[in-house]
Amino acid sequence: MSRQPLRDALAAATERLRAAGVGSPRADAEQLAAHLLGVARTRLALVPLIEPAMLEAYRTMIDQRAKRIPLQYITGITSMGSVDIEVGPGVFVPRPETELLLAWTLAFLEARSVHGATVLDLCTGSGALALAVAHARPDVGVHAVELDPRALAWARRNADHRSQAGDTPITLTTGNVCDPGLLPELARSVDVIVANPPYIPAGAELEPEVAEYDPPQALFAGAEGLDVIAGMAPNLRRWLRVDGGLAIEHDDSNGAGVAALLAEDGAFVDITEHLDLAGKPRYVTARRAAD
Ligand SMILES: C[S@@+](CC[C@H](N)C(=O)[O-])C[C@H]1O[C@@H](n2cnc3c(N)ncnc32)[C@H](O)[C@@H]1O
Repeated sequence: MSRQPLRDALAAATERLRAAGVGSPRADAEQLAAHLLGVARTRLALVPLIEPAMLEAYRTMIDQRAKRIPLQYITGITSMGSVDIEVGPGVFVPRPETELLLAWTLAFLEARSVHGATVLDLCTGSGALALAVAHARPDVGVHAVELDPRALAWARRNADHRSQAGDTPITLTTGNVCDPGLLPELARSVDVIVANPPYIPAGAELEPEVAEYDPPQALFAGAEGLDVIAGMAPNLRRWLRVDGGLAIEHDDSNGAGVAALLAEDGAFVDITEHLDLAGKPRYVTARRAAD
């Protein structure tokens, strides 16, 4: 078999993915090709021909994606901020909207000029948020909590890679973020809490990539999707120092619900609802009031 034009392979792959119901067929076809060929997606046009062995490997990847296996499970990698994060079976794939929590956290730290601050990432999954903060702010002490041992193994692996690459090591803890006895040593000492907890209301209809591959405990949180957020609220109050900030991602149906939970608690001020890039309610921020 001779070399083939890459643009023909991309066109065929795009059609295959479209027929399989993949939401962004061209983007996925390009991302998989870029990953396989080791070039940036924007430079694919500079690769006119593809070798037969590469074409074979590309078709295998496209077959997997057509079965609605998440793109990041196929490549084994995603990113958060400026760091690469390895993902695979057993761990939630970080989503682009969570970059907003990272940006908010970094801006909060910057605005406060807190050097040597403490940041706590609740429900860390692959460790994405915690590791992105540690990379961007080497002066910050980052703690992260995860309940699921399979997810925690991915977080440990990513944390090891990042510390080997020179980032400040993070502290990973196995635990339930709703446990009132969790991390007593952090009481009143955390400058920023960031959390992307499970928040989908039970019974919600999901794409196959999510329903069949993301771990259920990473997704669902009771009838309204608020069980974990409500359960961890007393801990947020316990861990945050006065004036410390928090950012919680939530289901697009729950902006007002999360804001109300924090308001009811009475320990938080500046409670603000934020939209994501699609204009949907996506995260709430607040500040710990004085007692
Ligand atoms: C939506 S995923 C988010 C993972 C990561 N923060 C991210 O943005 O990619 C939620 C994570 O919370 C974990 N989790 C669920 N309930 C928990 C609990 N009560 N305590 C600690 N972790 C929990 C899940 O195992 C999952 O890894």
